[in-house]
Amino acid sequence: MNIFGNEEEPELDNTRVISNSLGIDLGTLNTVIAKPSGDKFDLYQIPSVVAVKKDDPSEVLAVGEEAKKMLGRTPEDILAVRPLKKGVIENVVQAQALLIKAMQIGINEGETVGRIVIGIPGDASEVEKNAAEEIGRKAGAEYVFVISEGLAAAIGAGLPIAEPNGTMVIDVGAGSTDIVIISLGGINDIETVRCGGDDIDNRIVELVAEKFDVAIGIHDAESAKMQVGMIHCSEQLENLSIEVIGKSLETNRPKKVVIDSMLVADAVEPFMQQIIDGLNIILERLTPELMMGVYNNAVAVGGTSKLRGLKERIYDEISIPIEISEDPMTVVAKGTAIVAAEPLALEPDVRLRALK
Ligand SMILES: Nc1ncnc2c1ncn2[C@@H]1O[C@H](COP(=O)(O)OP(=O)(O)OP(=O)(O)O)[C@@H](O)[C@H]1O
Ligand SMILES: [Mg+2]
Repeated sequence: MNIFGNEEEPELDNTRVISNSLGIDLGTLNTVIAKPSGDKFDLYQIPSVVAVKKDDPSEVLAVGEEAKKMLGRTPEDILAVRPLKKGVIENVVQAQALLIKAMQIGINEGETVGRIVIGIPGDASEVEKNAAEEIGRKAGAEYVFVISEGLAAAIGAGLPIAEPNGTMVIDVGAGSTDIVIISLGGINDIETVRCGGDDIDNRIVELVAEKFDVAIGIHDAESAKMQVGMIHCSEQLENLSIEVIGKSLETNRPKKVVIDSMLVADAVEPFMQQIIDGLNIILERLTPELMMGVYNNAVAVGGTSKLRGLKERIYDEISIPIEISEDPMTVVAKGTAIVAAEPLALEPDVRLRALK
């Protein structure tokens, strides 16, 4: 069976005893590590941030939480950067440092990693896919597989991926949004919109500057989005608000502004339009045979799917009911861990066992 689009199935040696299997979702903002443990998973999360020397960006000084603390307040000769942009590995050395850290977190000292499965964007090019495999091997894993994040999400969410009927996953992350149609255990169609929660945060900063003449920090914009955010939809959702202190662009003094749900919804709108365009493209290509499956089994995952009104807005636009995953930020990692623990996880009977 095919675990990544049209690629050849990787050769698996199932006779070997593998010491540790890990599933890793290398995200733009967060890297989630899932380690199969009996019927469940041990889950760990680190920010996808590394600190590097400014004059030698391949020299990594700190990774994850430690590096995140340096964001925006690093000394002049140190830079805190994200190795992935818009869901894609931008700097191989930095991404590798992130992956090594993720693997260390997932195992006990002295242990080795036998098999890792890395989730990558569904529309990743051959070069991007090879880069992910290579950093996995260089990081010390014996077997490295990459699978599409959308497929991993569907497996993690327990959707009936092996059936011929069709399933839809919408993964709304920080840097990109994948819309994936799955049937017969493989990817039937995919549309990637290269924007996500990060773009909303940037737009909130812009709107606040336009409306109040105040500059606010990107982290305050993100935090406001998470606390009061919503998406314009036909349902009347409560308009919440939160106070943020920024810098007056007029006086350079601190100035209080109130960010409400409506402002966030306005900031989400251009991004929402792109998702709707993506959904329309997918639906135009969808064969009638798959429509019923998609209608009955559509799920949204990824941190940005937590925005109030997403489900309602998508239904307003395309008349398909969407379920929002209960664990939107870890479901991709769980899916990769299921495949890591049992590479035949995509066979229906094995998958059912793995999901028990
Ligand atoms: N409650 C919330 N409401 C709105 N957005 C949220 C909420 N919680 C998290 N987010 C957003 O979700 C995004 C992170 O989601 P996720 O961890 O799925 O992204 P990622 O996997 O790192 O990115 P990508 O899949 O694009 O590479 C961030 O933009 C964050 O601000
Ligand atoms: Mg993601």
